[in-house]
Amino acid sequence: MNTGQFSQRLLEWWSENKRSLPWKNQTDPYKIWLSEIILQQTRVEQGTPYYHRFLILFPDVKALADATTDQVMKAWQGLGYYSRARNLHQTAKQIVELHHSVFPQDYDGLLKLKGIGPYTAAAIGSFAYELPYPVVDGNVIRLVSRINGITRPVDTKEVLNEIYLFVQDAIRQTKPSEFNQALMDFGALVCIPGKPDCIKCPMNDYCSAYHQSLVQTIPYKSKRVQKVIRYFHYYDIQDTSGNTIIIQRTENDIWKNLYEFPMIETTAETTPGRDDITGLLLKILPENELGATPVKVVKLKQILTHRIIHADFYKISLNCTFGEIKQPYCLVDSQKVSNFAFPKIITSYLENNSGSKNY
Ligand code: ADE
Repeated sequence: MNTGQFSQRLLEWWSENKRSLPWKNQTDPYKIWLSEIILQQTRVEQGTPYYHRFLILFPDVKALADATTDQVMKAWQGLGYYSRARNLHQTAKQIVELHHSVFPQDYDGLLKLKGIGPYTAAAIGSFAYELPYPVVDGNVIRLVSRINGITRPVDTKEVLNEIYLFVQDAIRQTKPSEFNQALMDFGALVCIPGKPDCIKCPMNDYCSAYHQSLVQTIPYKSKRVQKVIRYFHYYDIQDTSGNTIIIQRTENDIWKNLYEFPMIETTAETTPGRDDITGLLLKILPENELGATPVKVVKLKQILTHRIIHADFYKISLNCTFGEIKQPYCLVDSQKVSNFAFPKIITSYLENNSGSKNY
């Protein structure tokens, strides 16, 4: 299939099948940027309510820049890949401070912004300014490698470049905003992973993978992601006044800036011993409150792209009220704990297992 035939078939299909989504036909770069960052690793159905909520909370780039980190993280809570929220916030500040709140209007200027890579720069550039840069993500790699029957691994520079050149040539023969939107819609609705409905595909007569029965083998990847398994033990320490303790994650690790209960991480699936727990409590409480015993409440698991998190939740019920709490631990009223942004595994615990009137 040549690039002219590709663009033509794609746009013919799109004129009849385009999805109507809230960020479509949008030329405001702030709204395009926001939708693209939300949709990077998130399905449209999950991302749409976040998009609307963000625009209510932060209607423009200045409002986002002026927000606190906690406000942004709270608005992002539940979407995962939290570096997206941190970058969004930092980039908003960068645009306000360095660009007088106006987005750069050229591809290279967009690429210089934190968290904006070739895909997002191409999306903003084409939708806001009709710049002819194609959006190339996993959907597009799948589509082009199937159409062109590419059986070599797609996770190599050489093959990625070949795919990029193909769509770059194709977009030049079209209106860029329409081409990119059509590419996204086609990858999401027709040339899907697994078993697409190839009989109905408007390009099947040109598709090498279809003719060679390779649709389920292509795209072929050489590297498989090995997931690291981590074991977290969370302690929900409650006092008689219904307070608990949380702490913000500040290290360069998963969930940075989100909150969590005091925790111990182990390298294997074991239960922390008495000494480990005493060591943890010593970092938080005055010594006279160390006596209570943890009771395991629930075991939860969360699968991330590169990690599997096993989290055991324990409750420690003190028979007194908390005295002084050592920084950076924070004492919070259990009823107000939902004001803070937590990873999904902790919100699952809070919603289902905290087992008291407090949450
Ligand atoms: N995925 C990434 N960007 C998208 C968009 N603009 N519309 C639909 N799905 C998308």
